[in-house]
Amino acid sequence: MARHVITVAQQKGGAGKTTVAANLAVAFSANGMRTAILDTDPQGSLGRWFMTRCDRMGDDEVDLGFRTASAWGARYETRQLLRDHDLVVIDTPPKMGYDGRPAIEVADLVVVPVTPSQIDVWATEPTIEMAHAEGKPFLTVLNRASARTRLTAETLKDIGEFGGQTAETMIGDRVLFAETMGTGYGAIEKRANGPAALEIRALTEEVAKLIR
Ligand SMILES: Nc1ncnc2c1ncn2[C@@H]1O[C@H](COP(=O)(O)OP(=O)(O)O)[C@@H](O)[C@H]1O
Ligand SMILES: [Mg+2]
Repeated sequence: MARHVITVAQQKGGAGKTTVAANLAVAFSANGMRTAILDTDPQGSLGRWFMTRCDRMGDDEVDLGFRTASAWGARYETRQLLRDHDLVVIDTPPKMGYDGRPAIEVADLVVVPVTPSQIDVWATEPTIEMAHAEGKPFLTVLNRASARTRLTAETLKDIGEFGGQTAETMIGDRVLFAETMGTGYGAIEKRANGPAALEIRALTEEVAKLIR
């Protein structure tokens, strides 16, 4: 099977990088892909989530591979993970500068969560520029969005002008995302047919098409 790397990046903190990375990893793993996560954020939120997951499931039962890396080590650690995984999902720190390039260089697809606000659109620009500079396809995803508001529509229009793809799936502002992250699970594992799970599954399908 071909090996794939998805990097979740966004200069803005709090946009949902770690939440999207964890939920994509859980969903791809549930689809039968041998999936690993790589945390390159010194804050280590994805790592904390994963450790909680290990505590809940047991180290031998946990489905995901895991490593941490400094920004410059991302390429090497990804290669190591790809030796026995089909997919690596990389989480990145906010304010990722030039030193964050290895995580973009190694990606097949850059997933960019954006919350609906003009400030977040502005803050997204450096990430988009980096993806363009590296010639990487990217997928912007509206996160914490309420459908049918003018702000959501305006943000969608703005991110559409970045020149990449925009996910048809919007991720809603849902308490379940925060709750499940704290317990080491993904949204699809808690309320399998709830709205959060449906959104994650739909997003996973869109992402899968882009890395195929
Ligand atoms: N779709 C969502 N609905 C509700 N809360 C969310 C959603 N996405 C993220 N959050 C919450 O917002 C905060 C920031 O999310 P996080 O994934 O840590 O962002 P980042 O990694 O980009 O800094 C966290 O408290 C997280 O639980
Ligand atoms: Mg994070």
